[in-house]
Amino acid sequence: MRVQHDDVPAPLAEALALAGQGRVLRFWPELDCAARSRLLGQLAAIDWQEFSRLQRLARARENAGVDAAFAAAVTPPCLRLGVGSDAIPPDAARAAGAGMLAAGTVGAILVAGGQGTRLGCSGPKGLVPVGPVSRASLFSVLFGKLAAVRRRFGRSVPLAIMTSSATDADTRRFLVETAHGGLDPDFVHVFRQHDLPAIDAATGDLLLDAPDHLAMSPDGHGGMLVALAESGGLEWFGRHGVEHVASFQVDNPLALPLDREFLGYHGLSRAEFSTQVVLKREPGERVGVVVEQGGRHAVVEYSDLSPALAAERRPDGRLRFHAGSIAVHCFAKAFLDRAAASDDSLPLHLAHKAVPYLDDSGVLVRPAAPNAIKFERFIFDLMPQADRVTLVEIEPRDGFAPLKNPAGSTADAPEHVHAALVDRARRLLSEAGVTVADGVDVELDSATILDASDIAATLPPGTHIEAPLVIRRP
Ligand code: UTP
Repeated sequence: MRVQHDDVPAPLAEALALAGQGRVLRFWPELDCAARSRLLGQLAAIDWQEFSRLQRLARARENAGVDAAFAAAVTPPCLRLGVGSDAIPPDAARAAGAGMLAAGTVGAILVAGGQGTRLGCSGPKGLVPVGPVSRASLFSVLFGKLAAVRRRFGRSVPLAIMTSSATDADTRRFLVETAHGGLDPDFVHVFRQHDLPAIDAATGDLLLDAPDHLAMSPDGHGGMLVALAESGGLEWFGRHGVEHVASFQVDNPLALPLDREFLGYHGLSRAEFSTQVVLKREPGERVGVVVEQGGRHAVVEYSDLSPALAAERRPDGRLRFHAGSIAVHCFAKAFLDRAAASDDSLPLHLAHKAVPYLDDSGVLVRPAAPNAIKFERFIFDLMPQADRVTLVEIEPRDGFAPLKNPAGSTADAPEHVHAALVDRARRLLSEAGVTVADGVDVELDSATILDASDIAATLPPGTHIEAPLVIRRP
């Protein structure tokens, strides 16, 4: 189909015609100048070769099945937090991790570009209040952890925050309004990931969600590698002397990306890619699993394992694939540099989603069932490229309470996150000899309380708490 509009640049008109996507201009005559340039901007950013690859993938309709590929795979050995191994006892790991933090060689990446569709977010999930008493936002709780590390070890941890078209403006506004959440602005680098078009599952065509706007979505947390490199973030880390980069997700307020012991296992094992895992107990748990085959490690998504393979158990009763991935990683900076320089881009995964779209008459349709395919890259797909991978098993109650679903859901809902944060606070208080009346919410201020020693320096043993309280070290 030829595209005939005088003010559409010829190369774009040609690309649209070649790709058979001229229909995205069907409302063109009704658009004013600003609307036309908005749509042109989006279209100009599309890589048409990649678009035809997306269409081919969508036609195949499947993520690569892995059962056959991983027939001989096993769960690799894991170091357990607090237990370690003969070669690396936990004390040695803690000392090494503390040394890395004190030397300022650790940086962090927070991925915060997701749309939070399950939770029903209209902006960044980072703004959702989770502090059980303070109602502090996810951003505040997570930034606080970096502030606490600076307080304890005397060095700022450079933090790169990944945003997306869905979260960028509100995240930057939050940073301005909160003076960078208490962090030194020289140690904060914000970068924005790319979008990819959603395509109609039936026709493979681009979708409009407004007359002047294509339905697009962020390209997955794996978009981090390219976007970080393009933004100059790898050099920025380098200028700050970063040798190890911990990455974590915005929706897990219990995350332990800067845990000394975790960092120590990573450093002492000279890993290129370390990752935290939790024990997957039941086949139906919706977590990806870390597997190893032929000396290479990979994360396999739960949807990519057949029910039979997911349910296989070892003679010791554990699932054959039981190392549940929780998306807290630590990379050697040199590994990220190498991966960013390589030509191998991370693979695309498909998700069938209900995406609002304009019908032919220009009415916005909100489908109840999936009508479109979205594409995402996952950062854990870098794992097979890593020469040394270290797995560190943690207890979920110490470091994993993701906020994914709305209140009333069976898992990962605000009430579960609330309970997990209060439970951790009560346990650390109890370690410090502080008791809390039944049913009373308590909260540890993440910016000043790193562990029970900070509590001991704040509240004398024997203290009894009877009303909701945020414990802050002065
Ligand atoms: P999820 O895959 O859980 O997605 O992201 P989400 O956007 O939070 O929620 P749903 O699926 O729409 O309900 C896991 C983590 O990866 C980040 C999210 O911000 C979250 O920290 N993420 C996800 C990105 O940074 N970019 C993306 O494109 C996708």
